Amino acid sequence: MATYSATDIAALRRNYTQESLSKTAANPDPIAQFDHWFSEAMNSALPEPNAMTLATATPDGKPSARIVLLKSFDHQGFVFYTNYESQKGQELDNNPQAALLFCWLELERQVRIEGSVERVTPAESKAYFQSRPRESQIGAWASPQSRVIEGRFVLEEKVQELATTFKHDAVLPLPAFWGGYRVRPDVVEFWQGRESRLHDRIRYTREKIGWTIERLAP
Ligand SMILES: Cc1cc2nc3c(=O)[nH]c(=O)nc-3n(C[C@H](O)[C@H](O)[C@H](O)COP(=O)(O)O)c2cc1C
Repeated sequence: MATYSATDIAALRRNYTQESLSKTAANPDPIAQFDHWFSEAMNSALPEPNAMTLATATPDGKPSARIVLLKSFDHQGFVFYTNYESQKGQELDNNPQAALLFCWLELERQVRIEGSVERVTPAESKAYFQSRPRESQIGAWASPQSRVIEGRFVLEEKVQELATTFKHDAVLPLPAFWGGYRVRPDVVEFWQGRESRLHDRIRYTREKIGWTIERLAP
């Protein structure tokens, strides 16, 4: 039984007072600005500061979203790893556009990233795949991600079978159906909560050379 009412939800309200962000204070390079905020998130003992919502869509515009983990970022883009045959994988292969969202509530911050998506090279995927714990490597092999399965036993039996198949291998080969995607940002927005809902929003838009920086109304 719920022990709260609809009014309780409507009354949830917090004032944001920790920090501010302006066009002049923001780094002219959004990747450097992201690096700055990400390092603060990493140093703030947040659980999984690299967890981000990934939004994808079918070619006819039906959206879907889920959390994935950021595994690296640089001026080329933001990289995560997944099953290429999953729902997100199929959507990205048919419509290579995505949005990423970081929500760091303890810091009263969110970062929105939008851009085009490409697969990372198999060599990059292999290097990351083989750096994961052996159990995670087996898990990736065992899971037909996003497919309906009859029960948990399907996964458990597959894990047993793979443990035998690969018992002499120190590291497992990279599955052909697994690897990374890189989101190349075209738009990056930094949101810093402020008092009275007058939050700071600084948006970077990619130009032929460099970036435009604008303030958006909250
Ligand atoms: C904290 C957290 C981290 C996750 N990290 C990943 C990840 O890095 N890669 C991944 O494929 N799924 C990850 N997942 C699972 C996804 O949210 C999702 O359930 C799965 O990828 C299937 O999504 P799809 O059916 O939309 O393709 C994570 C979930 C959570 C809650």
